[in-house]
Amino acid sequence: MAHFARARVDLGALSGNARLLKERAGGTPLMGVVKADGYGHGMVQAAHAMLAGGATWLGTAHIGEGLELRRAGISAPVLSWIIPPGEPVGEGIAAGLDLGVSDMAVLETVVSEARRLDRTARVQLKADTGLNRGGVSPGDWERVVAAAARAETDGLIKVSGVWSHFACADEPGHPSIAAQLDAFHEALATADKAGLEPEVRHISNSAALLTLPEARFDLVRAGIAGYGLCPIPDLDVPGLRPAMTLESRVALTKRVPAGSGVSYGHRYVTDRETSLALVPLGYADGVPRAATNRGPVLLGDRARTIAGTVCMDQFVVDVGDDDVSAGEYAVLFGDPSRQPGAPTAQDWATVLDTIPYEIVTRVGVRVPREYTALP
Ligand SMILES: Cc1ncc(COP(=O)(O)O)c(C=O)c1O
Repeated sequence: MAHFARARVDLGALSGNARLLKERAGGTPLMGVVKADGYGHGMVQAAHAMLAGGATWLGTAHIGEGLELRRAGISAPVLSWIIPPGEPVGEGIAAGLDLGVSDMAVLETVVSEARRLDRTARVQLKADTGLNRGGVSPGDWERVVAAAARAETDGLIKVSGVWSHFACADEPGHPSIAAQLDAFHEALATADKAGLEPEVRHISNSAALLTLPEARFDLVRAGIAGYGLCPIPDLDVPGLRPAMTLESRVALTKRVPAGSGVSYGHRYVTDRETSLALVPLGYADGVPRAATNRGPVLLGDRARTIAGTVCMDQFVVDVGDDDVSAGEYAVLFGDPSRQPGAPTAQDWATVLDTIPYEIVTRVGVRVPREYTALP
Protein backbone atom coordinates (compact mmCIF):
# COMPACT_ATOMS: atom_id res chain seq x y z
CA MET A 1 0.00 0.00 0.00
CA ALA A 2 1.10 3.50 -0.70
CA HIS A 3 2.61 5.20 2.31
CA PHE A 4 2.77 8.61 0.65
CA ALA A 5 -0.99 8.80 0.22
CA ARG A 6 -3.66 8.47 2.86
CA ALA A 7 -7.32 8.88 3.59
CA ARG A 8 -7.39 10.39 7.04
CA VAL A 9 -10.61 9.54 8.85
CA ASP A 10 -11.63 11.63 11.82
CA LEU A 11 -13.53 9.29 14.12
CA GLY A 12 -14.51 12.23 16.32
CA ALA A 13 -16.26 13.77 13.32
CA LEU A 14 -18.15 10.51 12.72
CA SER A 15 -19.36 10.25 16.30
CA GLY A 16 -20.10 13.99 16.45
CA ASN A 17 -22.14 13.75 13.26
CA ALA A 18 -24.14 10.83 14.68
CA ARG A 19 -24.86 12.85 17.82
CA LEU A 20 -25.90 15.89 15.79
CA LEU A 21 -28.14 13.87 13.47
CA LYS A 22 -29.90 12.18 16.35
CA GLU A 23 -30.59 15.62 17.82
CA ARG A 24 -31.78 16.91 14.41
CA ALA A 25 -34.19 13.96 14.32
CA GLY A 26 -35.64 14.99 17.67
CA GLY A 27 -34.02 12.09 19.48
CA THR A 28 -35.41 9.41 17.15
CA PRO A 29 -33.20 6.30 17.34
CA LEU A 30 -30.51 6.41 14.67
CA MET A 31 -29.19 3.72 12.34
CA GLY A 32 -25.66 4.34 11.11
CA VAL A 33 -25.48 3.00 7.56
CA VAL A 34 -22.02 1.47 7.19
CA LYS A 35 -22.32 -0.54 3.97
CA ALA A 36 -19.66 -0.32 1.27
CA ASP A 37 -16.86 -0.27 3.82
CA GLY A 38 -18.51 2.54 5.73
CA TYR A 39 -18.85 4.61 2.54
CA GLY A 40 -15.12 4.08 2.05
CA HIS A 41 -14.18 5.19 5.57
CA GLY A 42 -13.71 1.68 7.02
CA MET A 43 -16.83 -0.21 8.08
CA VAL A 44 -15.89 -1.41 11.54
CA GLN A 45 -14.24 1.85 12.55
CA ALA A 46 -17.21 3.86 11.28
CA ALA A 47 -19.61 1.54 13.10
CA HIS A 48 -17.80 1.94 16.43
CA ALA A 49 -17.62 5.71 16.01
CA MET A 50 -21.31 6.07 15.13
CA LEU A 51 -22.34 3.83 18.01
CA ALA A 52 -20.17 5.99 20.30
CA GLY A 53 -22.09 9.02 18.98
CA GLY A 54 -25.43 7.52 19.92
CA ALA A 55 -26.47 5.40 16.94
CA THR A 56 -28.19 2.26 18.22
CA TRP A 57 -28.64 0.41 14.92
CA LEU A 58 -26.29 -0.32 12.01
CA GLY A 59 -27.27 -0.90 8.40
CA THR A 60 -25.49 -2.85 5.70
CA ALA A 61 -26.43 -3.84 2.18
CA HIS A 62 -24.97 -7.36 2.33
CA ILE A 63 -25.29 -10.11 4.92
CA GLY A 64 -21.51 -10.57 4.60
CA GLU A 65 -21.02 -7.02 5.82
CA GLY A 66 -23.31 -7.67 8.78
CA LEU A 67 -21.34 -10.82 9.61
CA GLU A 68 -18.12 -8.81 9.52
CA LEU A 69 -19.57 -6.43 12.10
CA ARG A 70 -20.42 -9.40 14.32
CA ARG A 71 -16.90 -10.85 13.87
CA ALA A 72 -15.58 -7.49 15.05
CA GLY A 73 -17.53 -8.00 18.27
CA ILE A 74 -20.33 -5.55 17.52
CA SER A 75 -23.56 -6.77 19.09
CA ALA A 76 -25.80 -3.81 18.20
CA PRO A 77 -28.83 -4.57 16.02
CA VAL A 78 -27.83 -4.76 12.34
CA LEU A 79 -30.16 -4.71 9.34
CA SER A 80 -28.83 -6.20 6.07
CA TRP A 81 -31.08 -5.66 3.07
CA ILE A 82 -29.83 -6.97 -0.25
CA ILE A 83 -30.32 -10.74 -0.32
CA PRO A 84 -29.89 -12.30 -3.75
CA PRO A 85 -29.98 -16.10 -4.13
CA GLY A 86 -26.97 -17.82 -2.59
CA GLU A 87 -26.44 -15.33 0.21
CA PRO A 88 -25.53 -16.80 3.64
CA VAL A 89 -29.03 -16.40 5.07
CA GLY A 90 -28.54 -19.13 7.67
CA GLU A 91 -25.37 -17.49 8.94
CA GLY A 92 -27.21 -14.18 9.08
CA ILE A 93 -29.97 -15.72 11.18
CA ALA A 94 -27.46 -17.43 13.47
CA ALA A 95 -25.63 -14.11 13.91
CA GLY A 96 -28.87 -12.41 14.92
CA LEU A 97 -28.92 -10.04 11.94
CA ASP A 98 -32.21 -8.46 10.93
CA LEU A 99 -32.81 -9.50 7.33
CA GLY A 100 -34.49 -7.09 4.93
CA VAL A 101 -37.12 -9.03 2.97
CA SER A 102 -38.12 -7.60 -0.39
CA ASP A 103 -40.08 -10.47 -1.91
CA MET A 104 -41.78 -13.79 -1.29
CA ALA A 105 -38.81 -15.85 -2.50
CA VAL A 106 -36.50 -14.26 0.09
CA LEU A 107 -39.12 -14.73 2.80
CA GLU A 108 -39.38 -18.43 1.89
CA THR A 109 -35.60 -18.83 2.04
CA VAL A 110 -35.44 -17.15 5.44
CA VAL A 111 -38.30 -19.26 6.79
CA SER A 112 -36.77 -22.52 5.58
CA GLU A 113 -33.33 -21.61 6.98
CA ALA A 114 -34.95 -20.67 10.31
CA ARG A 115 -36.68 -24.07 10.37
CA ARG A 116 -33.42 -25.87 9.53
CA LEU A 117 -31.54 -24.01 12.28
CA ASP A 118 -34.42 -24.18 14.75
CA ARG A 119 -34.07 -20.43 15.27
CA THR A 120 -36.43 -17.49 15.07
CA ALA A 121 -35.20 -15.24 12.28
CA ARG A 122 -35.57 -11.48 12.63
CA VAL A 123 -37.19 -10.15 9.48
CA GLN A 124 -37.82 -6.59 8.37
CA LEU A 125 -40.39 -6.47 5.59
CA LYS A 126 -39.57 -3.81 3.03
CA ALA A 127 -42.42 -2.17 1.16
CA ASP A 128 -41.80 -0.68 -2.24
CA THR A 129 -43.65 2.61 -1.87
CA GLY A 130 -42.54 4.07 -5.19
CA LEU A 131 -38.79 3.74 -5.61
CA ASN A 132 -39.37 0.69 -7.81
CA ARG A 133 -36.08 -0.82 -6.77
CA GLY A 134 -36.01 -3.18 -3.76
CA GLY A 135 -39.07 -3.82 -1.62
CA VAL A 136 -42.28 -5.79 -1.99
CA SER A 137 -44.48 -4.35 -4.75
CA PRO A 138 -47.82 -2.95 -3.59
CA GLY A 139 -49.69 -5.72 -5.42
CA ASP A 140 -47.78 -8.41 -3.47
CA TRP A 141 -47.67 -6.69 -0.10
CA GLU A 142 -50.81 -8.24 1.42
CA ARG A 143 -49.75 -11.75 0.38
CA VAL A 144 -46.19 -11.36 1.72
CA VAL A 145 -47.45 -9.81 4.96
CA ALA A 146 -49.91 -12.71 5.41
CA ALA A 147 -47.16 -15.28 4.82
CA ALA A 148 -44.90 -13.46 7.27
CA ALA A 149 -47.68 -13.40 9.86
CA ARG A 150 -48.14 -17.18 9.48
CA ALA A 151 -44.39 -17.80 9.85
CA GLU A 152 -44.41 -15.58 12.92
CA THR A 153 -47.25 -17.59 14.45
CA ASP A 154 -45.20 -20.73 13.76
CA GLY A 155 -42.30 -19.20 15.68
CA LEU A 156 -40.00 -19.24 12.65
CA ILE A 157 -39.63 -15.49 12.24
CA LYS A 158 -40.23 -12.32 14.19
CA VAL A 159 -41.23 -9.40 12.01
CA SER A 160 -38.99 -6.91 13.77
CA GLY A 161 -39.49 -4.10 11.28
CA VAL A 162 -41.50 -2.69 8.41
CA TRP A 163 -39.67 -0.19 6.29
CA SER A 164 -39.23 1.53 2.96
CA HIS A 165 -36.90 3.89 1.11
CA PHE A 166 -37.44 7.27 -0.61
CA ALA A 167 -36.67 7.92 -4.26
CA CYS A 168 -36.34 11.72 -4.15
CA ALA A 169 -35.87 12.81 -0.54
CA ASP A 170 -32.86 14.85 -1.69
CA GLU A 171 -35.25 17.05 -3.69
CA PRO A 172 -37.39 18.61 -0.96
CA GLY A 173 -40.94 19.19 -2.19
CA HIS A 174 -40.77 16.51 -4.87
CA PRO A 175 -44.31 15.15 -5.24
CA SER A 176 -43.12 11.54 -4.90
CA ILE A 177 -42.20 12.19 -1.26
CA ALA A 178 -45.78 12.72 -0.07
CA ALA A 179 -46.98 9.88 -2.31
CA GLN A 180 -44.42 7.50 -0.80
CA LEU A 181 -45.32 8.55 2.73
CA ASP A 182 -49.00 7.84 2.00
CA ALA A 183 -48.09 4.47 0.53
CA PHE A 184 -45.95 3.68 3.57
CA HIS A 185 -48.83 4.49 5.92
CA GLU A 186 -51.01 2.14 3.88
CA ALA A 187 -48.41 -0.62 4.00
CA LEU A 188 -48.16 -0.19 7.77
CA ALA A 189 -51.94 -0.38 8.12
CA THR A 190 -51.97 -3.66 6.18
CA ALA A 191 -49.24 -5.08 8.42
CA ASP A 192 -51.17 -3.93 11.47
CA LYS A 193 -54.37 -5.57 10.23
CA ALA A 194 -52.47 -8.84 9.77
CA GLY A 195 -51.50 -8.68 13.43
CA LEU A 196 -47.83 -7.75 12.95
CA GLU A 197 -46.27 -5.65 15.68
CA PRO A 198 -42.92 -4.47 14.30
CA GLU A 199 -40.45 -3.01 16.77
CA VAL A 200 -39.35 -0.41 14.23
CA ARG A 201 -40.99 1.32 11.28
CA HIS A 202 -38.65 3.44 9.18
CA ILE A 203 -38.31 5.17 5.83
CA SER A 204 -35.92 8.12 6.28
CA ASN A 205 -32.43 8.33 4.80
CA SER A 206 -30.14 11.30 5.52
CA ALA A 207 -32.05 13.70 3.29
CA ALA A 208 -35.40 12.83 4.87
CA LEU A 209 -33.89 12.92 8.35
CA LEU A 210 -32.77 16.50 7.68
CA THR A 211 -35.95 17.77 6.04
CA LEU A 212 -38.99 15.63 6.90
CA PRO A 213 -39.93 15.42 10.59
CA GLU A 214 -43.15 13.64 9.61
CA ALA A 215 -41.13 10.71 8.22
CA ARG A 216 -39.20 9.81 11.36
CA PHE A 217 -41.40 6.98 12.68
CA ASP A 218 -39.31 4.80 15.08
CA LEU A 219 -35.89 4.96 13.42
CA VAL A 220 -33.96 7.08 10.92
CA ARG A 221 -31.18 5.69 8.72
CA ALA A 222 -28.21 7.99 8.18
CA GLY A 223 -25.53 7.15 5.70
CA ILE A 224 -23.92 10.07 3.90
CA ALA A 225 -24.71 12.68 6.57
CA GLY A 226 -23.01 10.49 9.16
CA TYR A 227 -19.85 10.87 7.11
CA GLY A 228 -20.30 14.64 7.23
CA LEU A 229 -21.52 15.16 3.68
CA CYS A 230 -24.89 16.64 2.91
CA PRO A 231 -27.18 14.81 0.48
CA ILE A 232 -28.79 18.13 -0.46
CA PRO A 233 -25.92 20.33 -1.69
CA ASP A 234 -27.66 23.65 -0.92
CA LEU A 235 -28.72 22.70 2.59
CA ASP A 236 -26.50 24.06 5.33
CA VAL A 237 -26.28 21.73 8.31
CA PRO A 238 -24.25 23.58 10.93
CA GLY A 239 -21.91 21.31 12.81
CA LEU A 240 -21.77 18.51 10.25
CA ARG A 241 -18.10 17.68 9.62
CA PRO A 242 -16.67 15.77 6.66
CA ALA A 243 -14.82 12.85 8.22
CA MET A 244 -12.46 11.94 5.38
CA THR A 245 -9.46 13.85 4.04
CA LEU A 246 -7.80 12.40 0.94
CA GLU A 247 -4.26 13.57 0.42
CA SER A 248 -0.93 12.54 -1.06
CA ARG A 249 2.60 13.78 -0.94
CA VAL A 250 3.96 15.29 -4.15
CA ALA A 251 6.34 12.80 -5.79
CA LEU A 252 8.42 15.29 -7.79
CA THR A 253 8.34 18.71 -9.39
CA LYS A 254 9.85 19.86 -12.67
CA ARG A 255 10.23 23.06 -14.61
CA VAL A 256 8.90 23.02 -18.19
CA PRO A 257 8.84 25.63 -20.97
CA ALA A 258 5.75 27.31 -22.38
CA GLY A 259 3.91 25.11 -24.87
CA SER A 260 4.59 21.81 -23.04
CA GLY A 261 1.83 19.22 -23.41
CA VAL A 262 1.11 17.52 -20.09
CA SER A 263 0.14 13.87 -19.40
CA TYR A 264 -1.56 11.42 -21.79
CA GLY A 265 -3.09 13.05 -24.85
CA HIS A 266 -1.50 16.42 -24.05
CA ARG A 267 -4.94 17.66 -22.97
CA TYR A 268 -3.26 20.45 -21.01
CA VAL A 269 -0.61 22.67 -22.59
CA THR A 270 1.37 25.14 -20.49
CA ASP A 271 0.86 28.77 -21.53
CA ARG A 272 4.15 29.93 -19.96
CA GLU A 273 7.27 28.52 -18.41
CA THR A 274 6.02 26.89 -15.25
CA SER A 275 6.52 24.20 -12.60
CA LEU A 276 4.58 20.97 -12.61
CA ALA A 277 3.97 18.86 -9.49
CA LEU A 278 3.31 15.14 -9.80
CA VAL A 279 0.73 13.76 -7.36
CA PRO A 280 0.87 9.96 -7.16
CA LEU A 281 -2.87 9.20 -6.97
CA GLY A 282 -4.85 8.09 -10.00
CA TYR A 283 -8.03 6.47 -11.13
CA ALA A 284 -6.95 3.17 -9.56
CA ASP A 285 -7.08 5.06 -6.27
CA GLY A 286 -10.50 6.58 -6.88
CA VAL A 287 -9.55 9.83 -8.60
CA PRO A 288 -11.95 9.65 -11.54
CA ARG A 289 -10.39 10.03 -14.99
CA ALA A 290 -13.25 12.43 -15.69
CA ALA A 291 -11.44 14.83 -13.31
CA THR A 292 -8.96 15.49 -16.12
CA ASN A 293 -8.41 19.28 -16.25
CA ARG A 294 -11.19 19.69 -13.64
CA GLY A 295 -10.42 18.13 -10.26
CA PRO A 296 -9.75 20.65 -7.47
CA VAL A 297 -6.65 20.29 -5.30
CA LEU A 298 -5.17 22.29 -2.42
CA LEU A 299 -1.41 22.44 -2.84
CA GLY A 300 1.08 24.90 -1.44
CA ASP A 301 -1.76 26.75 0.34
CA ARG A 302 -3.55 27.48 -2.93
CA ALA A 303 -6.59 26.02 -4.62
CA ARG A 304 -5.58 24.58 -8.00
CA THR A 305 -6.95 22.34 -10.70
CA ILE A 306 -5.57 19.08 -12.08
CA ALA A 307 -3.59 19.74 -15.27
CA GLY A 308 -4.18 17.19 -18.01
CA THR A 309 -5.28 13.59 -17.97
CA VAL A 310 -5.69 11.68 -14.71
CA CYS A 311 -3.68 8.46 -15.13
CA MET A 312 -4.00 5.15 -13.30
CA ASP A 313 -1.51 6.08 -10.57
CA GLN A 314 -0.87 9.80 -10.89
CA PHE A 315 -1.88 13.25 -12.04
CA VAL A 316 -0.13 16.58 -12.53
CA VAL A 317 -0.78 20.04 -11.09
CA ASP A 318 0.55 23.24 -12.67
CA VAL A 319 1.88 25.28 -9.74
CA GLY A 320 3.28 28.19 -11.77
CA ASP A 321 6.18 29.90 -10.04
CA ASP A 322 5.05 28.90 -6.55
CA ASP A 323 7.46 27.22 -4.24
CA VAL A 324 6.10 23.67 -4.10
CA SER A 325 8.42 20.74 -3.44
CA ALA A 326 8.37 16.96 -3.39
CA GLY A 327 7.06 15.61 -0.09
CA GLU A 328 4.43 18.31 0.42
CA TYR A 329 0.85 17.14 0.78
CA ALA A 330 -1.68 17.82 -1.93
CA VAL A 331 -5.21 17.69 -0.48
CA LEU A 332 -7.90 16.45 -2.85
CA PHE A 333 -10.78 16.82 -0.43
CA GLY A 334 -11.34 17.21 3.27
CA ASP A 335 -12.88 19.52 5.82
CA PRO A 336 -12.36 23.21 4.94
CA SER A 337 -13.41 24.25 8.44
CA ARG A 338 -10.28 22.48 9.73
CA GLN A 339 -8.05 23.04 6.73
CA PRO A 340 -8.89 26.36 5.04
CA GLY A 341 -8.96 26.08 1.26
CA ALA A 342 -9.40 22.30 1.18
CA PRO A 343 -11.87 21.25 -1.50
CA THR A 344 -14.78 19.08 -0.34
CA ALA A 345 -16.06 15.78 -1.69
CA GLN A 346 -19.07 17.85 -2.77
CA ASP A 347 -16.76 20.13 -4.80
CA TRP A 348 -15.49 17.03 -6.60
CA ALA A 349 -19.04 15.79 -7.10
CA THR A 350 -20.07 19.15 -8.53
CA VAL A 351 -17.29 19.32 -11.13
CA LEU A 352 -17.85 15.67 -12.07
CA ASP A 353 -21.65 15.90 -12.19
CA THR A 354 -22.07 13.19 -9.59
CA ILE A 355 -22.78 12.89 -5.86
CA PRO A 356 -20.31 12.91 -2.97
CA TYR A 357 -21.25 9.28 -2.17
CA GLU A 358 -19.42 8.21 -5.32
CA ILE A 359 -16.32 10.24 -4.46
CA VAL A 360 -15.76 8.79 -0.98
CA THR A 361 -16.86 5.21 -1.65
CA ARG A 362 -14.44 4.86 -4.54
CA VAL A 363 -11.22 5.71 -2.73
CA GLY A 364 -9.18 2.64 -3.65
CA VAL A 365 -7.80 -0.15 -1.51
CA ARG A 366 -4.26 1.06 -2.20
CA VAL A 367 -4.89 4.18 -0.13
CA PRO A 368 -4.36 3.42 3.57
CA ARG A 369 -6.99 4.77 5.93
CA GLU A 370 -5.49 6.52 8.94
CA TYR A 371 -7.70 7.08 11.94
CA THR A 372 -7.68 9.81 14.52
CA ALA A 373 -8.85 8.44 17.84
CA LEU A 374 -12.25 9.15 19.28
CA PRO A 375 -12.04 12.07 21.70
C1 LIG B 1 -31.98 1.29 2.04
C2 LIG B 1 -31.07 2.40 2.39
N1 LIG B 1 -31.28 3.10 3.52
C3 LIG B 1 -30.50 4.14 3.88
C4 LIG B 1 -29.44 4.50 3.08
C5 LIG B 1 -28.62 5.68 3.50
O1 LIG B 1 -28.81 6.73 2.60
P1 LIG B 1 -28.04 8.11 2.81
O2 LIG B 1 -26.60 7.79 2.62
O3 LIG B 1 -28.58 8.97 1.73
O4 LIG B 1 -28.36 8.56 4.18
C6 LIG B 1 -29.19 3.82 1.91
C7 LIG B 1 -28.08 4.22 1.05
O5 LIG B 1 -28.08 4.17 -0.13
C8 LIG B 1 -30.03 2.73 1.54
O6 LIG B 1 -29.81 2.03 0.43
